[in-house]
Amino acid sequence: MEFRSSTVHTKPFDDQKPGTSGLRKKVKVFQQKNYTENFVQAILNSLGDELKGSVLVLGGDGRYYVKDAAKLIVKMCAANGVKKVIVGQHGIVSTPAVSNLIRKRNTTGGIILTASHNPGGPDQDFGIKFNTKNGGPAPDSVTTEIFNITVRLDSYNIVPDLDCDIDTLGVNTYTVDGKEFVVEVIDSVADYVSLMKDIFDFSSLRDLLKGTESRDPFRVLINSLNGVTGPYVREIFVNELGAGESSIVNTKPLEDFGGLHPDPNLTYAAELVSALKEGVHDFGAAFDGDGDRNMILGKNAFFVTPSDSLAVLGSHLRHIPYFRIEGVKGFARSMPTAGAIDRVANAVGVDFYEVPTGWKYFGSLMDASRLSLCGEESFGTGSDHIREKDGIWAALAWLQIIACEKKSVEELLISHWKRFGRNFFTRYDYENCNADDCARMMHKLEQTVTSPAYVGTQLSHKNKSYVVKLADNFHYEDPVDGSIAARQGIRLLFEDGSRIIVRLSGTGSSGATVRIYIDSYEKDENLLLGDAQVVLSPLINIALDVTEIKIHTGREAPTVIT
Ligand code: G6P
Ligand code: ZN
Repeated sequence: MEFRSSTVHTKPFDDQKPGTSGLRKKVKVFQQKNYTENFVQAILNSLGDELKGSVLVLGGDGRYYVKDAAKLIVKMCAANGVKKVIVGQHGIVSTPAVSNLIRKRNTTGGIILTASHNPGGPDQDFGIKFNTKNGGPAPDSVTTEIFNITVRLDSYNIVPDLDCDIDTLGVNTYTVDGKEFVVEVIDSVADYVSLMKDIFDFSSLRDLLKGTESRDPFRVLINSLNGVTGPYVREIFVNELGAGESSIVNTKPLEDFGGLHPDPNLTYAAELVSALKEGVHDFGAAFDGDGDRNMILGKNAFFVTPSDSLAVLGSHLRHIPYFRIEGVKGFARSMPTAGAIDRVANAVGVDFYEVPTGWKYFGSLMDASRLSLCGEESFGTGSDHIREKDGIWAALAWLQIIACEKKSVEELLISHWKRFGRNFFTRYDYENCNADDCARMMHKLEQTVTSPAYVGTQLSHKNKSYVVKLADNFHYEDPVDGSIAARQGIRLLFEDGSRIIVRLSGTGSSGATVRIYIDSYEKDENLLLGDAQVVLSPLINIALDVTEIKIHTGREAPTVIT
């Protein structure tokens, strides 16, 4: 079929600055006339000379507006000289699977339609994110360029009547302005499953779940929170690993996630926590809307903090076939993530990196073969098999280690703490605060803690005291390309290794969210099994005092504690 593109006049929007992970706004904002079109055109323009003849992967997490946006993006790619779009059936592909496809098919990049763990539906959130040819989220230089284009944009290109059927698998070929344009609608699950089969030993995982003569079946409960991972989870856990249908729940991707907030933590994945508390299952995992985050629970809902999860994986990577072949290059965590992995890196003898919040900062280290395993306190864990964090990968990595170590989740944690000591960690979130109030609070806090006399200050609560060793606004220089990310969060580092971190979230769609992170290291064997909220109480109180959070935000308590 022959099509002609047209150019539509538009006016720039001034609020299209991508955050930690792409542009995230309410659906209604994206539905404004030309709003989505403008941002997509800016992404395409940012490709410069690479745009003509490019190949792009396209997929989203199945939330409300994904399909409309995917069809629109196909029309715009057609008009902008893109050679081929590889799109998931119904417009659905998980974020890790997009990263894999970009790498496997060697494409120019990919466009991901997701607001990750934010709720979905007509009155909820939507997002658009661009990933570059390494499969990872665009670095700051690219997102800044996209933003600069948005504020000047005066037209976009579209083929209005190219209506591709993205519900049917197959290759569709069109002629647009005399040139060939191809849309390949793919099964979004197949390539990802084969990647997992290359990384892990599926037969030992099957034996673990099924049990053997000398060992009971290992009962898992996987909750997809009605997000994108459902079909992946069904294929891997039920069809490949032989788990029963009752081992997987909420596996149909829904546009509004069935009303759930698809964020795998103790608050929003409460359903998984209560199911595990019944004591029937040995292992529980939940994933977020787009499939890159994970939460791991042991029997009786024994909670593994993401920081500990990273550290336990780090000290057992030898059990995963992928790392036996690829080797273990280095470990990394984001700055607010507790320092448990630091000690493992030291013990294993590999390099360690501390990067700002945001998966994009791991990519350049991986591309330079300096990093194998990394994670963030925000329930993200992953490796250099792709350039995104990967929820299902994390669950399989845990199961692989359990299969080899023949220990429960709790036993693995306890032996880890006995060997390395324990980083107690908690995060307090104050969601949807007034943005100006929060900016004022951060400004004042920075001034206070960076005044020259602050180092050496003793901060106390009840009978516990901490002496400030260093306080700053975190500044990162990428060791590979020298790029700088400044002002990435206020750090208070104490002489005993404890830390208070304060930063504003970069993923909200409205208002401001303050995050306070508390990390305290303990190696006294008798204190290892304490409750984090109790152990950290003095430091938490100090953090609330230093930030004056109640005064600035008017909030008596956080909205979420993880
Ligand atoms: C997304 C990114 C993560 C990052 C997180 C931080 O999930 O993919 O890499 O850790 O956002 O979110 P925040 O709201 O704290 O900026
Ligand atoms: Zn996500």
